[in-house]
Amino acid sequence: MSPTEVTADVVVVGAGPAGLNAARHLTRAGRDVVVLEARDRVGGRTHTEEHDGVTLEIGGQWISPDQTELLGLLDEIGFETYPRYREGESVFIGLDGVRTRYRGETFPVPDATAKEITRLTELMDDLVASVGATQPWAHPRARELDTISFEAWLRQQSDDEEARTAVELFIAGAMLTKPAHAFSTLQAVLMAASAGSFTNLTDECFILDRRVVGGMQSVSQHLAAELGDRVHLSTPVRTIRQTSGDDGDGVVVESDRVTVRAQRVVVAVPPPLFSRISYDPPLPRRQHQMHQHLSMGLVIKVHATYATPFWREAGLSGTCFGTSTLVQEVYDNTLHGDDRGTLVAFVADEKADAVLALPEAERRAAVLDSVAQFLGDEAREPVAYYESDWGSEEWTRGAYAASFDLGGLARYGADQRTPVGRIHWACSDLAAEGYQHVDGALRSGRAAAADVEELLG
Ligand code: FDA
Repeated sequence: MSPTEVTADVVVVGAGPAGLNAARHLTRAGRDVVVLEARDRVGGRTHTEEHDGVTLEIGGQWISPDQTELLGLLDEIGFETYPRYREGESVFIGLDGVRTRYRGETFPVPDATAKEITRLTELMDDLVASVGATQPWAHPRARELDTISFEAWLRQQSDDEEARTAVELFIAGAMLTKPAHAFSTLQAVLMAASAGSFTNLTDECFILDRRVVGGMQSVSQHLAAELGDRVHLSTPVRTIRQTSGDDGDGVVVESDRVTVRAQRVVVAVPPPLFSRISYDPPLPRRQHQMHQHLSMGLVIKVHATYATPFWREAGLSGTCFGTSTLVQEVYDNTLHGDDRGTLVAFVADEKADAVLALPEAERRAAVLDSVAQFLGDEAREPVAYYESDWGSEEWTRGAYAASFDLGGLARYGADQRTPVGRIHWACSDLAAEGYQHVDGALRSGRAAAADVEELLG
């Protein structure tokens, strides 16, 4: 069967939050838009799904108070949010393996280490304030900071291993989900700057503040419903041709099922997937090179549901951090209105590699053992258990998002959103504020729509 031919003003590739928001803004400006999505659902890396009778956020879920693009949209479409449970004490397991209950935002470490963590945090905050999120590559120290790994930089700043590991955790395992030797200090600064400060990033009450009632994917589902039959599912885009002369000035976007002729195209997929699409003429050398320097991190998001939130009865919030443990973070992730208790736990980068090599049952036992170290033996017996595995997803290939390798941000950052002829780029992984988050995806979608709209005149 030959593909259906459609004409439009603009084609959007990808129905994640970035693509759908681009389409929404263009449609509102009176443009005829078609959205082509590879999967049989919208939402991209946001996916709310039921497993073993529990509704789970397989992908993105939390909102922080600075994420005003997302909060504004939720307000506009009348969606409610609810806070993460955070009453009671948190648990910390340090490099010595000792488990300590504590309150507040400071890890229960010896005084000298606590002072060192504060000093490193202030150093990061100063760098973040000076570099900013919008153009980190333009800072006078960009190259210097981009050619030293975050791990090596921290070693230069402090001899205190516990302090370094605690600071590293918030960017490496918790955000970029790559080992700290694999990304630069400039990349770490961007991650923190995109959340306002490094202090914000280390404050789980700020960064993991609220969730959407009904799940984060429902935001994309709402946007898609507004767009109606302009959204085509199960339609992976294979080729983008830019035409001129007798063929007319425009783009031809080819998928297996639909071919769209349009004025412009917004490619709203994770950057490591840009090269899954063929371009005619080929993209310029600089884009070919740049896209090879962007790669996805890796994290397993583990969901474990229990008959009751047993940790609350023990006076615990469910918030746990470990610098020497397999699971480095645990949070109470109980669904709004559910009597059962759900924990979410994260295993990142090289630790994820190690457990993913295990048979499923052994992996589950290892992860639950690690959670039990923090919260007690009851954690070993969930009534439902699920591991989000985005690294195996054809149309994502990792989690949470993409970042540059060492030196890439200073070298290529300025061009990452530069259109190529009639091709525009949008994705949370190219955003400044809200970088690697749904908020940044919405911002980048809106920005791409504004660029297209201006050029269409
Ligand atoms: P996204 O990847 O979401 O969408 C891209 C779309 O393009 C996908 O639907 C894909 O199928 C499609 N596509 C790819 N190739 C295609 C092709 N060739 N043709 C057609 N379609 C194609 N964020 C947050 O704010 N709070 C949080 O708590 C978290 N937590 C979190 C946990 C986990 C496990 C993950 C994986 C991610 C998060 N995130 C998050 C990140 C957040 O989910 C992410 O930043 C946004 O979903 C990115 O939206 P985009 O639209 O930019 O890309």
